[in-house]
Amino acid sequence: KTLDDVSDLHGKTALVRVDFNVPVEDGRITDDTRLKVALPTIEKLQKSGAKVALLAHFDRPKGKVVPEMSLRFVAPALSALLGTTVAFADDCVGADAADVLKLLPAGGVALLENVRFHAGEEKNDPDFAAQLAALGDIYVNDAFSAAHRAHASTEGVAKLLPAYAGESMRRELDALNAALGTPVRPTIGIVGGSKVSTKLDLLKNLVGKLDALAIGGGMANTFLYAQGHEVGGSLCEKDLKDTALEILKEAEAKGCRILLPLDVVVAQDFKAHAANRTVDLGPPLSADDKIFDAGPRTVTQLKDVIANSKTLIWNGPLGVFELPPFDAATVEAAKFAAEQTQSGKLVAVAGGGDTVAALNHAGVAQDMTFVSTAGGAFLEWMEGKDLPGVSALG
Ligand code: 3PG
Repeated sequence: KTLDDVSDLHGKTALVRVDFNVPVEDGRITDDTRLKVALPTIEKLQKSGAKVALLAHFDRPKGKVVPEMSLRFVAPALSALLGTTVAFADDCVGADAADVLKLLPAGGVALLENVRFHAGEEKNDPDFAAQLAALGDIYVNDAFSAAHRAHASTEGVAKLLPAYAGESMRRELDALNAALGTPVRPTIGIVGGSKVSTKLDLLKNLVGKLDALAIGGGMANTFLYAQGHEVGGSLCEKDLKDTALEILKEAEAKGCRILLPLDVVVAQDFKAHAANRTVDLGPPLSADDKIFDAGPRTVTQLKDVIANSKTLIWNGPLGVFELPPFDAATVEAAKFAAEQTQSGKLVAVAGGGDTVAALNHAGVAQDMTFVSTAGGAFLEWMEGKDLPGVSALG
């Protein structure tokens, strides 16, 4: 159920779970995307005359009150974005919260203190969930990026109040469904990042669903090694050789074409602008050579497959994009995917971990069909897992 299914909210309290776990440096929010994505839900509820009580976590205080992890700093930033004063309650349950909500006018907004200051949150304790539920008339989950956690504010409370998906949650679920649920085919996935070990379930799930899967980043080295290529001193999980071979075999059985690097860019020093050379796979690399990026032949092949695909799902960079020139493959592939998307030929959905940073680095995040705000939740969803915060919405 979405907010379109709710009526007559005037004066009622909507308890809205948002994800304000934002990056902060020296007390300043360095990326306010997660605040911005919550605005449509908040504004919609305000318009309907509801009192909006925002529930969120920040960092990992482990069930204790840690003053440095207070959410208070978010209230002024959110006030500025909304153009309305956002009240702040020193606790997310009990009298502190109830008093702030009582004083709120219809259409008013209050942010409640970090739910993780209470041990009951992460334990999904029914009593704590009941204390949260006591504050509201309806529950709205707009935090897809926290939906992989079965916590009281994401899961428990959804069972105690009429529960709805917020606007951002709905957009995330629609986009993810368009990418992997019922996609327009042919489909291609790009999975990069450093380690195969962190993405085993994800790779296994994707080879059963996609028509093609490009594997890049450090994790490609493990696959190249499994196929008998020398990878020199590159990051490589040699103990996962058999697992990598199994994944390749499964992909073949399921008709998923695997794209591995055809050529690579190697350097010996892990630093920006390190002396480097591009080599085709084949001749052994020296023990000091480390693969930091995919080469131009690999990118040409990848672009070719993207050009013949209708849907792309992307997680993880193809090389060490933080250190130029080892960002070249990621940037070129991202720009090409963005062009295809802008000309209406491709649905491109990206998310998880470093992916958003890599697409921002390439300057094309805004040109993709959808970029998820989620890290861990996006990965778990790509693994094919049920997300408790989504399942609880019924
Ligand atoms: C995130 O930042 O990915 C979410 O807010 C979840 O945070 P967590 O990993 O601390 O549960």
